[in-house]
Amino acid sequence: MKHRALLAVLAAAFVYLPAHAEDGYDLWLRYGQQSSYPPSAEHSRELVHSDASPTLAAVGRELASGLGGLAGAPIPVVREPSRPGALLYGTPRSSALIAGLSLGLERVGPEGYVIRSVTLGGKAATVIAGNTDVGALYGAFHYLRLVQTRALAQNLDIVSRPRTRLRLLNHWDNLDGHVERGYAGQSIWDWHKLPDWLDPRYTDYARACASIGINGSVLTNVNANATSLTPAYLEKAAALAGVLRPYGVRVYLTARFSAPIELGGLKTADPLDPGVRAWWKAKIDEIYRYIPDFGGFLVKANSEGQPGPQDYQRNHADGANMLAEALAPHDGIVMWRAFVYASSATEDRAKQAHAEFLPLEGRFAKNVLVQVKNGPIDFQPREPFSPLFGAMPKTPLMMEFQITKEYLGFATHLAYLAPLFEEALDADTGSARKGSTVARVVTGELDQHELSGMAGVANIGADRNWSGSHFDQANWYAFGRLAWDPDVSSQAIAEEWVRMTFSNDPAFVQPVVEMMMGSREAVVDYMTPLGLAHLMGTGHHYGPAPWVSDLSRPEWNPAYYHRADANGIGFERGPKGSNATGQYSPRVAAAFADPKKTPENLLLWFHHVSWDHKMSSGRTLWDELVTHYDRGVGKVRQMRLTWEAQSGRVDAGRFAQVSAFLAIQEKEAQWWRDACIAYFQSISKRPLPVGSAPPAHSLDYYKSLKFPYAPGRG
Ligand code: GCU
Repeated sequence: MKHRALLAVLAAAFVYLPAHAEDGYDLWLRYGQQSSYPPSAEHSRELVHSDASPTLAAVGRELASGLGGLAGAPIPVVREPSRPGALLYGTPRSSALIAGLSLGLERVGPEGYVIRSVTLGGKAATVIAGNTDVGALYGAFHYLRLVQTRALAQNLDIVSRPRTRLRLLNHWDNLDGHVERGYAGQSIWDWHKLPDWLDPRYTDYARACASIGINGSVLTNVNANATSLTPAYLEKAAALAGVLRPYGVRVYLTARFSAPIELGGLKTADPLDPGVRAWWKAKIDEIYRYIPDFGGFLVKANSEGQPGPQDYQRNHADGANMLAEALAPHDGIVMWRAFVYASSATEDRAKQAHAEFLPLEGRFAKNVLVQVKNGPIDFQPREPFSPLFGAMPKTPLMMEFQITKEYLGFATHLAYLAPLFEEALDADTGSARKGSTVARVVTGELDQHELSGMAGVANIGADRNWSGSHFDQANWYAFGRLAWDPDVSSQAIAEEWVRMTFSNDPAFVQPVVEMMMGSREAVVDYMTPLGLAHLMGTGHHYGPAPWVSDLSRPEWNPAYYHRADANGIGFERGPKGSNATGQYSPRVAAAFADPKKTPENLLLWFHHVSWDHKMSSGRTLWDELVTHYDRGVGKVRQMRLTWEAQSGRVDAGRFAQVSAFLAIQEKEAQWWRDACIAYFQSISKRPLPVGSAPPAHSLDYYKSLKFPYAPGRG
């Protein structure tokens, strides 16, 4: 009796109550009542409880609160199935009933799951099972998603396993709370109050990550601070690890290469120096005493002023392998970033990562991954894929995407990034091996790597809505879903997210998904069409500044990238120019080297083209450029109309913020268009095509604008 009473209390406590009235805090984990649920007597009449581990206890909490909320009444929580429609979760180890079923769990690996309609003792039941507790957790979130999106089939037979092993968020968060390139407020990690105060938000962060399969979090900025490796901060990181662990999210840190000097008082950080190696070994052993399942290090070295092995005439492999050797006994890994470009180099910046890393192929230790940004330069609205993908088959290459929108208008511009991620993942590297897409390089499937991974630079901050805007939550969501399975379409992900986050009303879903799907291309059009790149304002990257050409390092200047002159515009990277095209496989190189075969949306990335060059539309390049700028602004106008038509289909709070942000986006799209056209016209000296309005202000006006306090600065 006492036992039953306890379970009733548990069930009541698990009924979902939104944390706040629709301010975005709940992300896509919304469990408000769905009239269509439960669809039949076969589903979710009772939850067979298991709290055999902290992870299974979390599964139980999520399912009870989720399903109770979705059904509009608490779901009975029981210890044994007692009637048709029981929902069971766990592993063969946690549940004798699950162990007794043949579910084919050998197919799903350590993190995958099976969701299956079964018959238990003659009664219909549903089982969510993994080989590990975390597998069951991922399965539970999948089940909830099916209910949330009204996709729950009568007869379930779902098998899923992640395609990449490491699915990580990279937080560019500093210990003082500032988030580099963060547009959602201060860091969510309150280092000052840790380890004693564990903000409940950490648990919600972990839930959100687990719901999309993210299994690791690099807590600190790549521009690293050695202080994060001191005992006081390790204790704080350990406290966070304790919160994230039940949700399958491992903690990682960034390692500042000069830490042996800064913290250890050594005279050098030379990776071949025995004293330095001993220091790192002791430090890493110490970290594992605080965090027994510590994931490992992410390292930015010899890039943008960060210290690294080249300071001692050593190479990236020397540096990575030193750390890898000390991490290996603990099963830790090193993610060594390929985002490098040197102030001394005269080489085209787009070529530098390939030039530095290719010679190191085959020289990295087994527990090292090289983490490569999707494009060769830096998270632009559009870039070709990095030529490193496909070029280093002996080295596991981890993908680095940027979820935060440093170069796509910050949080106020609506840009759904899954199409950008998808474009990079689907790109064919053209290597001789079959099916050699970037996705299959990254998953390790192409070259049979056991280690594989995808990292996303997080867009998360302390703002109530986590991401600075409601629609930016979709980018966090989409990153996780693509890291789990790079073949899911961006459109399907958008639809799922819209249904979970806003509404299942088809009159809402269809136009809003369409708006999201076109949104990234709109940004490309009004900022950097036809393969242009890096025209953003200096330092903060807010707004247009294509005229800047006086910064000390050439590749910091927008003029370095667009190279507009009286004859034309674009960076010649074919054989007659920097020959960056030569870094791709012969098949891809042949296309990129020839302006006639280069896709028009990358034309100016690879070629310097005459203003009068005939485009496939029949227009001249100049007219085409202006047309794209106009089109970009037009698309944002259309996005506003689409959204305004949704009034009444969304709660007032979120509706109003999206409306206001779209108005900002339209204003800024116009500013981008006008400023770029004013500037490029001062060089092309061509008239605007018929019907295209002159910029609202003079070029001098746009040049005079200053934004010393734009957010997210490095
Ligand atoms: C960009 C960004 C920096 C960041 C760097 C990196 O350059 O502007 O803030 O540190 O990327 O990825 O390391």
